[in-house]
Parts: sequence; structure tokens; C-alpha cells
Amino acid sequence: MPANTPVGGTLVNRVVADAAKLRAEAEKLPAITLPAAEVWDLKLLAVGGYSPLGGFVNEHDYASIIARGKLSDGTPWTVPITLGVQDASKLAAGKRAALKDEKGNLLGAITVQQLYARRFEDEAKGVFKTLDEAHPGVARIKSAGQTLVAGEVDVLPEALPSNEQGLPFKPAEVRAEIDRRGWKSVVAFQTRNPIHRAHEYLLRTALETADGLLIHPLVGETKSDDIPADVRTQCYVALIDKYFPKDRVLLAALPAPMRYAGPKEAIHHALIRRNYGATHFIVGRDHAGVGNYYGTYDAQQIFETYAAGELGIANLNFEHSFWCKGVGGYATSKTSPFGKEHHLTISGTRLRELLAAGEYPPAEIVRPELAEILMAYYRGK
Ligand code: ADX
Repeated sequence: MPANTPVGGTLVNRVVADAAKLRAEAEKLPAITLPAAEVWDLKLLAVGGYSPLGGFVNEHDYASIIARGKLSDGTPWTVPITLGVQDASKLAAGKRAALKDEKGNLLGAITVQQLYARRFEDEAKGVFKTLDEAHPGVARIKSAGQTLVAGEVDVLPEALPSNEQGLPFKPAEVRAEIDRRGWKSVVAFQTRNPIHRAHEYLLRTALETADGLLIHPLVGETKSDDIPADVRTQCYVALIDKYFPKDRVLLAALPAPMRYAGPKEAIHHALIRRNYGATHFIVGRDHAGVGNYYGTYDAQQIFETYAAGELGIANLNFEHSFWCKGVGGYATSKTSPFGKEHHLTISGTRLRELLAAGEYPPAEIVRPELAEILMAYYRGK
């Protein structure tokens, strides 16, 4: 069996073949300016990362995604991919519009299917489980345009880089590599952080059960206090180079914005990884969480609300893992009999403080090679 089937069965491709024609057409079209996060969404739509979606969702799908975690045709989908505008006066259903980034670069075009109003409260509650505007995902949909533009997109080839952070990012490239390696089972790992030893424990344990591992860091828009993608990528490369067998591990980038939607984003992340060819997906503690909005294992429990096989990718759940002095290795409360006093964990805030002060965190928490890279970043700040 080759790479897993994409969601909906076919990998979407919305990159135009005739770029000159689109450029000429765009000169006569009204333009929509996409904020940075929506530019990431557009890129991922173009290369099929959001298959079966080929554009920004219409009202029917929007309402269905929010209310029941499925597209209107019943396909599982938990995060509405929307394009909000402040001013829709020049747009109309059935007409085309040019898509530009904030610098005015032409990215592509949209065939407007429909214009409709964002239902802020329904979307915030349905996707993020909170109306609190201190939540970064809620804040983003609150400040984004409240008129949503639905429609299929066409993207210029030059709007896509050849790589992201030096890494492959197109589902077709990753799928081809999985096929070339002949992997029948591939476990994917989402991360927005440098890989610490707790992550590494998950990775090794998961790889014991699969043919291959796809380390798939998200490199799109994240919160300002998250470590930038270029610094993280240096860490991923250094870690894999020294501590993982090359023939079992693929490192690729996910060009998507982070939404911090906890459980809903865990399903979203799993479905995207299916489009990249993965058969299994790691879900640890508080996956895609922020602050205290979600329960530690909400992102695992939500997988149970779908029928067996419905998602087409299996979740591999992990309890909170920690260095256990009693065990003398990484463990979880499922695998260690020792109490909290034997556990070594460190908060993200404390870790940042240590690194900023030029102090090495314990080697049980962060590998010294990676601590060096992170320290250099904090020194430069
Ligand atoms: S996330 O926002 O991308 O989920 P992060 O990069 O920290 O954040 O986590 C990546 C994955 O590792 C997620 O599935 C998360 O649940 C899991 N994870 C992170 N730390 C731990 C830990 N100590 N124990 C178990 N799982 C963890």
C-alpha cells in the first residue's frame, strides 16, 4: 500500500498552469488583500494540504463545520478555512477577484461563489470553545473581516516558494517520498516548538510501531512568543542529524497558521497529515492548546466522537510524559509507579528564562546541542 489516501480521495491542486493568463486577467479585477495567516491558508489550499477543499468555504459548509465537525456532505472537517474582508462593495457572486498579499504581490484569484456574514459567536464557541478575546485564535477571527468570501481559488506558481525553511512542504512531494521508501505505515508528528526530550520520547515510541516517522513542524503564523520557525528548524535538523536514523525519518514543513483550537485543531491537524500520506498521528497532552482553555486530554477524546475509520487516519495517544528519576528515563503515569517528587518537568516560561540567562536547562529536558541553538537565539533578541 502506498501513502494514505487524501481526504475525499483526490489530492487537490489549485496551482494554475497558465500564469501569464491569470496575471493579465487580474489587472482588470477588484483585489482582495489577504492578511498573513490567510496567505498561509491560500498556499496550503493550492497544494492540496486542505483536500478536499479547493477554496474558502461557503456558508453551508461553514455552518456544518462549526456545528458538527463535518462538511455539509459529511466529510470530517473541524476548522473553517475562511477569507474575511472589511469591504465587499466591489465583490459579487459569480465574479472573479484578484488575491494579493499585504505588499501588493499578486498571489492568484478567486471565483466568488458567495458572500456571507461571519457568525463570530458561533465560530468562536464551535471552534475555540470560548468567546474570550484573549484567546489568540478568537482574537484573530474577531479582528479579521466579518464578510466572508467563498469560492475556489487559483494560485500562481510564483506565489509558492520552492521550499519552506529549506524543507519540502507540498503533500505530493512528501507522498512521493513515502512511496519511494515503501513505507506502509507512517506516523506524523505536529509541533510548533523545538523538540524537547519529552517530544523525543513520543517520537521514538511511536516509530517503534510504524515503518516511518514524518516530523512535520508547523511553520506558518504563530503567536509572537513562540520560537520562530527558522530557529526551530535548525533544532530539528540538528536533532535528526545526530539522534535519528535517516532512513526512518522524513522532515517536512507544514505551511499553515496555528489556531490554538485544541481538540478541533487536533482533528484538523490529523486530516491534513492524512493528505501528506500519514496513516497515524501523534496526539499528546493539550495538543494545540493555549492557556487553560482545554482539558489535558480533550484533544484525544474528540477522536472518539467519529466512527471507526471515519477520519481515515488513526490517533496515537500519549499521556503527559516526563523524565522520571525513579525509572531513570522518560515515562508517563501509565508506565511509571513513581510519584510526582520523582518527575522532572519544566514549564515553557522557566525554560525561556533559563535560556535567556545563558543557563543550560537540564540535559534530561533539552539536549545540549539544541540548547546551544536556542541560547544563541535568545542572546540575539
Ligand atoms: S502543539 O501546539 O503543536 O500541539 P507542541 O509542539 O508543544 O504544541 O506539541 C507537539 C505534540 O507533542 C502535541 O501532540 C502535544 O500534545 C505533544 N506533547 C508536548 N509535550 C508533551 C509531553 N510532555 N507529554 C506528552 N505529549 C506532549
